[in-house]
Amino acid sequence: MRVAVAGATGNIGSLTAAVLRRQGHEVVGISRSLGVDLATGDGLDEALRGVEAVVDATNIAPADRDGSVERFARLTRTLLAAEERAGVRHHVLLSIVGIHRVEGNPHYAGKREQERLVENGPVPWTIVPATQFHDFAAMVAGWTERDGVADIAPLLVQPIAPADVAEILAEVAVGEPLGRHADIAGPRTQDLVDMARRTLHAQGRRVDLVPTWSGVFGTSMAGDVLLPGEDARIAPTTFEEWLAARTAP
Ligand SMILES: NC(=O)c1ccc[n+]([C@@H]2O[C@H](COP(=O)([O-])OP(=O)(O)OC[C@H]3O[C@@H](n4cnc5c(N)ncnc54)[C@H](OP(=O)(O)O)[C@@H]3O)[C@@H](O)[C@H]2O)c1
Repeated sequence: MRVAVAGATGNIGSLTAAVLRRQGHEVVGISRSLGVDLATGDGLDEALRGVEAVVDATNIAPADRDGSVERFARLTRTLLAAEERAGVRHHVLLSIVGIHRVEGNPHYAGKREQERLVENGPVPWTIVPATQFHDFAAMVAGWTERDGVADIAPLLVQPIAPADVAEILAEVAVGEPLGRHADIAGPRTQDLVDMARRTLHAQGRRVDLVPTWSGVFGTSMAGDVLLPGEDARIAPTTFEEWLAARTAP
């Protein structure tokens, strides 16, 4: 089957493209560095020729609420319109667990708009809400790190391995459109501050972490808000297994 992966050079997109190729599918990569820009549509009609399913694992640079909504909307509208022209039968969107329960996070506002456009769009769809990835904690700490100190919100999460997300997206993409998929999550809950501390330690880096609520990660994200639903699909790889594979001997 010919499948396009939007965001094919990114964290999840590259892993998803690799899984699909390993399974014998023909993969078309979409990203600016591959010559296809979803903000302008440049190269898109050509890329989608003969494609049956599209996985959207794109991301945008951090922005304020209006900027996030506007950018996600532009990429999603451009992609869906081109899919309709190309006769694509299935659009798979990677989303985030809990975005409908949290106000005030600009990225989540953009993801909600992305979901809304897909749900009301012209192409049969599956939305796959994932919890935070195993590498999320260190990434977030990196956003504020200055002179060996970083802020990080004390979130309770149930993180999932990027490779497990990719396996599920590949499986969903070659199947029938399902509408809203069950939440996908890893096997155990974790404290985000502890995850960041252990990841940085495994990388041999010394960073003092300051548990802090912020505008992006406010107290509306506290408690069980980010945890998956009871019918969630639980992926196998624990944070500890993922970390062990990254720890220098
Ligand atoms: N991090 C988490 O814990 C988490 C949890 C659940 C869900 N998610 C969601 O997962 C999705 C993927 O995240 P990720 O971390 O894998 O993303 P990422 O590594 O930042 O990759 C983003 C991809 O999007 C492409 N892209 C950006 N702008 C583009 C444009 N105008 N046209 C075409 N391609 C474009 C980038 O390639 P170029 O730069 O070459 O264009 C890149 O391939 C995001 O939507 C995020 O909300 C994240």
